[in-house]
Amino acid sequence: MFQKISHSTGVTDEEEILFSTPFNYLFPEAARSAACLLPVSLNTIQGLKALGNAMADNGSIGDPAGQGDSQIDALFTYIGQFIDHDITARTDRDTTISDLSNESAITPANPDNVIKTLKNGRRPQLDLDSVFGEGPGLAGSTAQAKTQSQILYNNDLKLNLFKNGSRIDLPRQQINNPDPVQQAIIADGRNDENLNISQIQALFLSFYNHVYDVLSGTKEEKYIRARQLVRWSYQYAVVHDYLMAVCDRNIVLDVLANGPRFYSSTAGKGETFMPLEFSVAAFRFGHSMIRPFYKLNNTNSAVHLVNMAGGLQILGPNARADNFDDDGQFVSGLMINWSNFIGNSAQKARKLDTKIAHDLFTLPFRPSGDPILSSLTTSNLVRGYSLSIPTGQAVCDAMGIIPLSPSEITSTEDPAIAAVVTANNFDTRSPLWYYLLREAAVQQGGERLGEAGSRIVAETLIGLLKQDPNSYMNNLHDPAITDTHIEVTGGAYGKISNFRSLLKFGGAAGL
Ligand code: HEM
Repeated sequence: MFQKISHSTGVTDEEEILFSTPFNYLFPEAARSAACLLPVSLNTIQGLKALGNAMADNGSIGDPAGQGDSQIDALFTYIGQFIDHDITARTDRDTTISDLSNESAITPANPDNVIKTLKNGRRPQLDLDSVFGEGPGLAGSTAQAKTQSQILYNNDLKLNLFKNGSRIDLPRQQINNPDPVQQAIIADGRNDENLNISQIQALFLSFYNHVYDVLSGTKEEKYIRARQLVRWSYQYAVVHDYLMAVCDRNIVLDVLANGPRFYSSTAGKGETFMPLEFSVAAFRFGHSMIRPFYKLNNTNSAVHLVNMAGGLQILGPNARADNFDDDGQFVSGLMINWSNFIGNSAQKARKLDTKIAHDLFTLPFRPSGDPILSSLTTSNLVRGYSLSIPTGQAVCDAMGIIPLSPSEITSTEDPAIAAVVTANNFDTRSPLWYYLLREAAVQQGGERLGEAGSRIVAETLIGLLKQDPNSYMNNLHDPAITDTHIEVTGGAYGKISNFRSLLKFGGAAGL
């Protein structure tokens, strides 16, 4: 069932709906060259675990305006995660190709096997399959045409959504897993793995429903046009709002004007593929932007990612009894007032650097106490090793970029991290995920990605849009697509130019 795509371990292929699209390497020669990878050794795994642990940010938990903040509005953290879940899934599978459960058995997989065995559970087109699923099965009414996805839609072909006064939430059903979980009935279960992304998913459903409402025609015509306008609005905002906020602007403009230099379908035998360097390392940069707690609305105090004392909690929200009202939907105390996430008084994302919020070291939906999987940092680092992701230095070489020198990496680095990096020679062969975060801190003061990180992220997202004949970039003749916005309806309100206007049109409280 498609609802089961998750970051939990132990979910089998049969339990997930699979688009089964290809992964490949951006830099296949590097992935196949031992010199471009981390050394194959148990010591490397021990080093990665030590590095992961050293990256824990234990400071400033009680200080809402913590010194680790960037100037990027906190919304962009979860827009990033929402984009991730739209285009890439399953690099974290504990299958034979990347099983992190038995430390002593972890070795880097042969890249050819990775490409053959590991399949992406998402369609890499920024087309919101995480929102629309496979659609409501317009092709016919036979039993075969009635796909699982139909349960996402009501008879009018609007998306099901819970609304009660100021409470907005995803449609839910109670399951036992084995403890009770208020599972969201949505196309990608990961979009209910934390409260913030869950509420963004709800606003996307609501955005689609509102666009549908302003259109005329049969319900099938309204569904098709509304879905198209929603996709284009989102894609436009990904390029002109999100990428401009998290990447080096000049690199984004260069990729827009001249096209990707390294990412093209020809690198993957002519198929559109998700680059593993993006999914397993570069785009996980967003993990460093996560705050340890969030002020959600103006009535409650900040809510922690993990709340050991009981009460409201951001991570794994659907398994948390305190998060639910008697009707099985989120309590009003969890409803986000979006002025806390975007705009003048918004809390900020944490800096893009190598310090990671400490609650991410005890992920509630992972086996408790597992030396690798329970921690997000260690999972990222060991996952990169296991999937033969080239080092930061090798990736820079492949792109013709001068990599950070060992002293740039360590001299101003947190001393505990620097000690682990030096002891394990990670200053000359750096795990790519760590390297790109360090690059962001050294080159951009943690305000955005550095040169290599910006290029991988901008080339992948813009490259996906350029390769898709249905993207807004390839439909400029349509009157709804202008240079400055997507016009979903007349009037200023209907001009969608960024995520703020998109969420506002979706009915986001506080905007
Ligand atoms: C509270 C927020 C978040 C949590 C708890 C979280 C957790 C996770 C976990 C557990 C994994 C799998 C790790 C592994 O075993 O390999 C993962 C993968 C990933 N995360 Fe996050 N994440 C969060 C936010 C983000 C953000 C903000 C971004 C990007 C802006 C992001 C990007 C990714 C990507 C690209 C993957 C790989 C997806 C794939 O399998 O292809 N995540 N995340």
